[in-house]
Amino acid sequence: MKNDHDIGADPPDDRVLTTSRLRLPPWEERFADDLVRLSRDERVMRHIGSGPWTAEYAGERHRHALRQWQDEGFGMRAILRGERFAGLVSLVSCTLPGVAEPAMEIGWWIDPAAWGQGIATEAAAAVRDEAFRLGAATLIARHHPANEASGRIMVKLGMIPHGDGTDRYGRPCRIHILPQPGLHRAGSPDRPDTPG
Ligand SMILES: CC(C)(COP(=O)(O)OP(=O)(O)OC[C@H]1O[C@@H](n2cnc3c(N)ncnc32)[C@H](O)[C@@H]1OP(=O)(O)O)[C@@H](O)C(=O)NCCC(=O)NCCS
Repeated sequence: MKNDHDIGADPPDDRVLTTSRLRLPPWEERFADDLVRLSRDERVMRHIGSGPWTAEYAGERHRHALRQWQDEGFGMRAILRGERFAGLVSLVSCTLPGVAEPAMEIGWWIDPAAWGQGIATEAAAAVRDEAFRLGAATLIARHHPANEASGRIMVKLGMIPHGDGTDRYGRPCRIHILPQPGLHRAGSPDRPDTPG
């Protein structure tokens, strides 16, 4: 007989991704305060747009994330370690000249208390694989040139440099892409290596 304690606080949901250490549920109402907290932390926002968000803007982005799941069936996920909120991974449709479509862009924010433990890489790898299951022909990620940790994650995900551009806030960024395995070129491996 099933024990409620075995299944944790979330109802069973096949949209929840799991990794060896993490659960990645679709964005939910209960994460609103976590987004406010992360987005006003200067350490987290150092390389994001024009810096920390107001609580009002964080609320807008929170509601947008909820709507995206309703409208598109994918989107931002919380990163949970046990029941503890450790960050988020986002996934949105996008376009970029010169890359195969449909394309999706991935992004990640980790709570500073959990930095340096491979959490971003582990969570992003699960969402990278989800993007290809959803049919993305290209996965895209952008980082501010000074955000070397984020660039390192892109490399660890198997992504390749695709030059410089601008992010959604119009600021300079470095772009990495990953073609859908199998669409890349004949004879390439089914999956890129995912070190780390
Ligand atoms: C960037 C961020 C997501 C990294 O999270 P994390 O869970 O600590 O990342 P991981 O541990 O999975 O991997 C980080 C990698 O970058 C490396 N790294 C960390 N700081 C670095 C630096 N200053 N320069 C170069 N590499 C660095 C780490 O050594 C690690 O690589 P390794 O496994 O080869 O040693 C986290 O710092 C964060 O949330 N920053 C604020 C939000 C943000 O900038 N998001 C990205 C927007 S593009």
